Amino acid sequence: MRELKILAVVVFFSLLTYYLVEPYAHSQMHKHVEGHNFVYTGEADIEEASKEKKEVKEKFWSEVKTIAALKGDPATGEAGFGMCMGCHNGAGINMGGVIPPNLDHAGAIYDKNYLIALIKDPAMASNVDHKYADTMTHPMGSIKTMFTDNQSIADVVAYLMTKKAGEVTPKEAYEEACGRCHAMRYAKLTQLGETPKFKHEKDALAYKIKVIDEQDAVKAYMGKLPPDLSIMIRARSEHFMETFVENPQSQLPGTSMPRTGLTEEGYAKVEAYLEEVGDPSKPKREAVGPWVLGVFFIFTILAYLWKQSQWRDLH
Ligand code: HEC
Ligand code: HEC
Repeated sequence: MRELKILAVVVFFSLLTYYLVEPYAHSQMHKHVEGHNFVYTGEADIEEASKEKKEVKEKFWSEVKTIAALKGDPATGEAGFGMCMGCHNGAGINMGGVIPPNLDHAGAIYDKNYLIALIKDPAMASNVDHKYADTMTHPMGSIKTMFTDNQSIADVVAYLMTKKAGEVTPKEAYEEACGRCHAMRYAKLTQLGETPKFKHEKDALAYKIKVIDEQDAVKAYMGKLPPDLSIMIRARSEHFMETFVENPQSQLPGTSMPRTGLTEEGYAKVEAYLEEVGDPSKPKREAVGPWVLGVFFIFTILAYLWKQSQWRDLH
């Protein structure tokens, strides 16, 4: 029975560490950030805002709410969308810091409220308005002069929600939401997209220079080069990633990374891609785990029975 007592003590201290000590240490080291279920109503922004900014933000988000209540007409919106295509045209040209993302699945990955806010005022929507204090303008800032009335914003968003929804792969979601800023070495992705294979060393080098130029532009825009995300999913907890993407300011106050306005499903796709690239053995590991534990369990019983049979005659 001594073994059982020892086992009980070991189990007790393991559980104590796991459920009490570790979470306590964790809560002391990281401030807890509440998620908002990927709903974009500006609540957190208003709460965080300085006294002078509070009123402006309240007004902004209440206007977004008004527009969200309008019935948009997708057919009219399609014409308005032509103006977006001036920049979001897949030409791969850097515009004021980054290459505007492909909008092919905008209706599938972005939240409706967020899209309305983005067209109304990109810096406010992304919660990076602190970066644009009078001197600089957001690279998508001219949108404010193109869509000045509420109905035309509602129309173009209705168009996005009906015509640009549909299936999106994890990789597409990642490229559209994060790829213009972050590289992923493990997936051969840079800010220019997938690195092609070159026959000649010279062409590979010329391409490399293009990548460096693009990274320099992103760096100048963001103040620093956004980190490679290849193994970020293993370095940061699930909760951190989720709340950070939902509102980067909540975890890194003052950061230049914009909020991206993903829906819960949109983020799930991005996360799936980060996992596929950074932790490809996870599904296998998770499938094997219960079997390994089962085998250990059976061996423990066998070892115990064997010991009993060996010692029986000595008692
Ligand atoms: C417009 C550029 C931009 C976009 C788009 C962007 N990021 Fe970032 N990201 C940054 C910058 C800049 C940093 C560095 C932030 C800092 O250190 O202040 C960063 C940092 C990060 C970090 C590291 C945070 C830490 O703890 O240091 C993670 C994780 C991250 N981004 C994930 C994402 C994901 C996921 C997406 C897509 C949903 C995304 N980012 C889209 C610019 C961007
Ligand atoms: C003047 C050029 C320009 C125009 C016009 C423009 N955009 Fe953009 N858009 C950009 C740039 C540049 C970015 C990337 C900004 C960044 O990452 O900081 C962007 C980003 C976006 C994003 C990603 C935002 C995020 O948070 O991840 C969406 C969605 C978007 N635009 C939708 C639209 C829609 C819809 C229209 C038309 C109603 C439009 N854009 C018009 C330049 C433009």
